[in-house]
Amino acid sequence: MPAIAVLGCMWGDEAKAKIVDYLGGDADFVVRFQGGSNAGHTIVVDGKKYVFHTVPSGILYPGTKCIIGPGVVVDPFALMDEIRSLEAVGIDFNQRLFIDERTGLVLPLHMELDRRGESLLKDAKIGTTGRGIGPAYADLTARTGIRLIDLAHPAYLKRRITDLYEYHGLKADPTLLKELLGRLSDCWKLIEKNVVQSYELLHEARLQDAKILFEGAQGTLLDRSWGTYPYVTSSNTIVDAIGVGAGYSSRLLDEVLGVFKAYGTRVGEGPFPTEMFGDLADKIRMQGNEFGATTGRPRRIGHFDAVMAAFTSKLNTLDGIALTLLDVLSGIEELKICIGYKLGKKVLTSPPSHPLDLQKVEPIYTLLKGWDEDLAKVRSFSALPQNAKIYLEAIEDLLETPIKIVSVGKERSQTFHTKK
Ligand code: IMP
Repeated sequence: MPAIAVLGCMWGDEAKAKIVDYLGGDADFVVRFQGGSNAGHTIVVDGKKYVFHTVPSGILYPGTKCIIGPGVVVDPFALMDEIRSLEAVGIDFNQRLFIDERTGLVLPLHMELDRRGESLLKDAKIGTTGRGIGPAYADLTARTGIRLIDLAHPAYLKRRITDLYEYHGLKADPTLLKELLGRLSDCWKLIEKNVVQSYELLHEARLQDAKILFEGAQGTLLDRSWGTYPYVTSSNTIVDAIGVGAGYSSRLLDEVLGVFKAYGTRVGEGPFPTEMFGDLADKIRMQGNEFGATTGRPRRIGHFDAVMAAFTSKLNTLDGIALTLLDVLSGIEELKICIGYKLGKKVLTSPPSHPLDLQKVEPIYTLLKGWDEDLAKVRSFSALPQNAKIYLEAIEDLLETPIKIVSVGKERSQTFHTKK
């Protein structure tokens, strides 16, 4: 049975959770390896909508176990809320959700620092989700972070949190500190039985030939090292982050699937070369319900950017593409795909690394005819309108990667394999 990575390959919100959900029915494990509650995964099953932030989306399948790897940063209170709200709709967590003891914690202080950081940045406000992600990762790197296993050692935890406040030039208010420690202790009681060393589970699973899906949270263009820095998230999101964030080397993966939308979106600040405005952007935003699952912010809309997509395809050594939201493009007369950037007199076929250059590039487009047919009921490549087939083939050629899965609607059932 294979180990498959499902990675968002643009700026996030590629509908990865839908693809994980589609592939996850027979998966033994679904694993998250980076990010935190900045992610918002929406899945619709039989008309019912589920939104996940920290819990892997595989939890909807009763036979699938879910792992939160040590590369994730967990807001313990948000996780508790998520567990409780999913339990309220009948989802059982017992022996199904496992959290690595090395996982870093996001504390209320980190959210405060996130907000403060954003208000101080003059030149490069990032437009973060405000979930404390950057400060939590920064503390882990600075070795001042708090990890889940610290909750098992209350006196040590108290010293570490007091130090953490001092490290940030603050003094922990004794009453608030006592309350925080109390709440953390309640969290520990609730999840202690779910805390594991996840690499042990995964390597055992491998020996038993289990099917393992690794679920990326943020897209490749938000990767801290390879994304559109500084407008990125604070974790690595590319395929190799799986080794670091789950203890399962990417050498052991059987397949790497990259998820792309049929068009582009971005939330938050930062360059977006193929961004479009006006009626077409509004139509796509409404049709694709392009509003953030975590913050509700309207997403910025753009044409498909094959320069960025070919770059992320190479970075992740993609074996195949899952193309989502293709149905949203029905009824558009002419579609554009960006095949190069003009920067001054130069023509670029890969993205420049400096934000000022990326802001200046002019996209070079190839134009393709659109289609009018509603795709909601299409369940095979051959049933697609001819112009949609041509659009997909253009993307495959530009990315030199086959499209293996296509999604044409919100429902789990509106997804099909192209058999490539
Ligand atoms: P942070 O991860 O909250 O620090 O935000 C950093 C950047 O990543 C901002 O531009 C966010 O909008 C973006 N971002 C973080 N998580 C997601 C996500 O799940 N989808 C889309 N964008 C995200």
